[in-house]
Amino acid sequence: MTATATTTRPLTVTEAIETRRSIRQFVQEPMNQDDLREILRLASLAPSANNVQTWRFAVVQNKELQAKLQEAAFGQAQVSNAPAVIVVYSDMEDTLANAEETIHPGMGEEQIKTRAARLRQQFEAQDSVQRGQWALTQANLAFAFLMLAARGLGYDTVPMLGFDPQKVKELLGLPEHVQFAGMLPIGKRAEEGFPHHRHSIDRITTFY
Ligand SMILES: Cc1cc2nc3c(=O)[nH]c(=O)nc-3n(C[C@H](O)[C@H](O)[C@H](O)COP(=O)(O)O)c2cc1C
Repeated sequence: MTATATTTRPLTVTEAIETRRSIRQFVQEPMNQDDLREILRLASLAPSANNVQTWRFAVVQNKELQAKLQEAAFGQAQVSNAPAVIVVYSDMEDTLANAEETIHPGMGEEQIKTRAARLRQQFEAQDSVQRGQWALTQANLAFAFLMLAARGLGYDTVPMLGFDPQKVKELLGLPEHVQFAGMLPIGKRAEEGFPHHRHSIDRITTFY
């Protein structure tokens, strides 16, 4: 069976990677809310250093707010065209303040306290921008997982960083310290997008 946009079974990882491409025009129908939650759940299975899970998701399914986000994204039409937009950002201050949440419960109460304190100590010498940068490297992994999870369930996306972060923070009521992995319009494809154009493996790889 060929993996297409209309496939009803979940795609294999290989099929999801092969058939993902940036889509900027979407079928005009609301997102299935169960699928949306499942895509977010799958993305949240991304790995992170010390399992800190610095990523946070802001899901917008409101045409008025999407129109404002589109404006903040220099008018890029896909922001309003998609049935939903997922904004992925990292919040290292929330991560540190609630570090106990991300430590495996199997560790026991004492270990959880010790490890949470150690994590806070590790970043105490850095300012919020520096540790926010570290947190963003983790959130980027969830951003990539999100695109593939969506494709795996038959949805399409376009990753975006072409927006004014300050304006998006204001529109979503996010604190100053958060950093954006990107904005992800999501829905069913209404165009085919461009075929992949990539470096050859030999151009980008050194085998030792
Ligand atoms: C971090 C990031 C930011 C991007 N920002 C935008 C954007 O603001 N607007 C847009 O139309 N596409 C954006 N793209 C999509 C890229 O143009 C696209 O991924 C690339 O050309 C490869 O095409 P493909 O996604 O179809 O494989 C972005 C992609 C990434 C990964």
